[in-house]
Formats: sequence, structure tokens, C-alpha cells
Amino acid sequence: MRTPTAILNEDALASLLDELGREAAAQRFEVAPNPCVGAALLAGTEVVARGVHRWFGGPHAEIEAMRAAGAAVLSADTLVITLEPCSSHGKTPPCVDAILAAGIGRVVVGALDPDPRHRGRGLELLREKGLEVVLLEGVAPLAEVAPHFLHWTDNERLRRPRPWTIAKWAQTRTGQLIPPEGVGGGRWISSHASLEEVAVLRGRVDAIVTGVGTVVADDPRLTVRPPGDTRKSPLRVILDSRLRTPPSARILKPVQGEAESGGRTIILCIGGADPARHHALLDAGAEVHELHVATDDGVDLRDVQRHLWEELGVRRVLLEAGPILASHYLSHGFVDQVRVYTGSVNGGRGPTLAPELLRQKLAQRLDREVGPDAVFEAFVDPRGTHLRAFH
Ligand SMILES: NC(=O)c1ccc[n+]([C@@H]2O[C@H](COP(=O)([O-])OP(=O)(O)OC[C@H]3O[C@@H](n4cnc5c(N)ncnc54)[C@H](OP(=O)(O)O)[C@@H]3O)[C@@H](O)[C@H]2O)c1
Repeated sequence: MRTPTAILNEDALASLLDELGREAAAQRFEVAPNPCVGAALLAGTEVVARGVHRWFGGPHAEIEAMRAAGAAVLSADTLVITLEPCSSHGKTPPCVDAILAAGIGRVVVGALDPDPRHRGRGLELLREKGLEVVLLEGVAPLAEVAPHFLHWTDNERLRRPRPWTIAKWAQTRTGQLIPPEGVGGGRWISSHASLEEVAVLRGRVDAIVTGVGTVVADDPRLTVRPPGDTRKSPLRVILDSRLRTPPSARILKPVQGEAESGGRTIILCIGGADPARHHALLDAGAEVHELHVATDDGVDLRDVQRHLWEELGVRRVLLEAGPILASHYLSHGFVDQVRVYTGSVNGGRGPTLAPELLRQKLAQRLDREVGPDAVFEAFVDPRGTHLRAFH
């Protein structure tokens, strides 16, 4: 381990942590429910490399900084990081191990992990191995850098866990989810550039959830295609209380070669649904899971959340449904994040989700453009407080 000598003064460290927090927060919609984290490697008082956590499932900020440093990592003696490094195996190996292996002698941390199961553990491990650990709280607090992570790790969410759910939809200029007759094949609203973004997002979730209305109307496959990561195969889940999914649906067909990937197709229905349909769907390649709770709307969404989490091990969901299911998800408080594409299509059919969206407390909103489309992203704040955001 390299013994650190010079250290930046407290003002310089604070300003570096603030900058790293801002850089990290720019990735908030890509990494959630993971925290936004930024890191820098220093040789003496010189920053040799920086890194941020860029996308859910991707390398953590410390690892990105080490990669960016290349051979210069050998001269680095201090790691500055906005959040305590992880000490347990998640989608990636623990960062504490990588820090130890890199021979860094000092770690400056901006915040402790809020998860009571991990809080302080990473720092303890580093201290035990003889590293100097400096905790400089209050400069880039999680309440500003990654408020969503505080919700994800709060007692209420830990007690009743459910997948992080990103509701994504495309709408016309009038806010409708279905284009006018004869436009976009009755289905397409957003541009190729937007569809490519969605392909990437599909490769970064554990499951894609839709309603049977979409399956019947559009016959989608809900697969991952380039530029999405086709090494990933998210489950394809259809909420279909009475098994209306046609056995001939394309979502039940095997995926086509190496150019696309798709996970198992799972139909969630109400217990006791038509046995003939049930058998036909099994024969067609579906898995049919009967849920025990039904409501007037169909399968009970709370039961769906439990099933996804407990039975299917799903942690991050992309909801790609029509207006009926999307509005029910929003009104039941099961949406954590929204991504809305507004395409250059006039008019449209069906209801808009605007009234339901207006009832939500949105936080950390971001408006941007992709190709000719407008995109709006935000977190749905479960506590209804609008928190200060980095932009
Ligand atoms: N622009 C977009 O981003 C986008 C995305 C997807 C679809 N669409 C369009 O939306 C149209 C289809 O609309 P849709 O609203 O019928 O589709 P949907 O929302 O995908 O499916 C609705 C169906 O899901 C079933 N469901 C099961 N449990 C439910 C629950 N708890 N709450 C709500 N629904 C539940 C219901 O059928 P059962 O009662 O039979 O179970 C319900 O009719 C198509 O024209 C499609 O092109 C647009």
C-alpha cells in the first residue's frame, strides 16, 4: 500500500466532492435505484483520473476512475469518493476489494451508505487494513446527489420491497399514446433515435412489463436489440387476468438469432382462468403464473409487485404498457421514475396520461431532446417533497 503524504486542504476537497456529486447526479436516471456516485484518484494533491457510476449494473465510480487512470493508478495514493464504497457483492464485486488491490493509502468519503445493513461497513474494512479514512460529510449530501437512493433504502421500502419501476411511454403532441389511424402503422410515435434509447434501457432492466391490451393491439416482442446489450435477457411479463393473450403472439416465439435477446415470457393471470387457454399458452411457450388476488381492474398490482420481487427476483422494471395499465400503475404509487417521449405526431387516439401525471409529485425533472422528439424524465417522489436538484 502506498503511504499518502500530501493531502488537499479541506476547501479543495470539499470543492472536488461537490464537482463529483454534480457529475454523478447527471446520470441519475440511468443508475437509479443505485445511488449516483462520483470518484477521483489523486497522486499527492494532483487529480489523475475521475469516474462516475454511469448505468445500473455498470462499474461503480471507483472502478471507472481506476480504469480512466490506466497506468497512473500506480502513482495514486488517495481516492476521493462521494459515497462510502460498497463492501458486499451486488451486480459487481465489492469496491473495497478493488481499492485494497490498487494499493491506495487514503480514502476520503463524502457520505455513509444510508442502508442500515451496510452503513459504515466499507469504511471499517478499509481502516482494518490500515488505510487512512477521512469522512467529510455535508458537502455532497445524498439528499442532493441521490435523493432517490434515500427512498430506496428507507425503512418503509426495505420492509415492503418492490421493484424499482420506470414507466416509459411515447405520446403524440396532444399527449395520446396511440397515433391517429394510418400514422406510424397505428403504433409508432417516436423517432428511430428514441427507439434506440429504449433498446438500451431494455438491456438494463430485469423485466419488461406490459398489459394484454398492448399485446393484442400491437403484437410486440419486447426483446433487446442493438444498440441495447443483447447479452441481457430481461423477462417479458404480461398482465393478463383472463388469458386473452393469443397463443400466436410474437412475444411467445423464440427470439431471432444473435441480433436480439429476450427472457422468458411470463403471463400473470387470476387464479382459475380458462384451462383451455391456459394449456394453449403453455404449449405456445409461455409460463403462466396464477395470482391469488384480483380486483375490478384485473390482477392486483400489489400482488404483482410481490410476485416480481419474491418469486422472480426482479429488482428493476421497465413498464411499457398502454394507457390503462400505465395509469393504474401511476395511481397506485408503483412508478418510481418516468420517461416520456413526445414525438412530432399531431392528434391521436385514446386517453392521455396527463391527469394522472399531474397528480404525482415529480422530482429532479430533466427535459431534453433526442432526434426530433422531446423527452421528459423525472423521479416520482413518494414523500411528495420537491428536493433541490443538481442540474
Ligand atoms: N405510446 C406508447 O408508449 C404505448 C405503449 C404501449 C401500448 N400503447 C398502445 O396502447 C394501446 C393498448 O392500450 P391498453 O390500455 O389497452 O393496453 P395496456 O394498458 O397495455 O393493457 C391493459 C390491459 O391490461 C390488463 N390488466 C391486468 N391487470 C391490470 C390492472 N391491475 N390494471 C390495469 N390493467 C390490467 C387488462 O386486461 P384484462 O382485464 O383482460 O386483464 C387491461 O385491459 C394500443 O393501441 C397500443 O398501441 C402505446
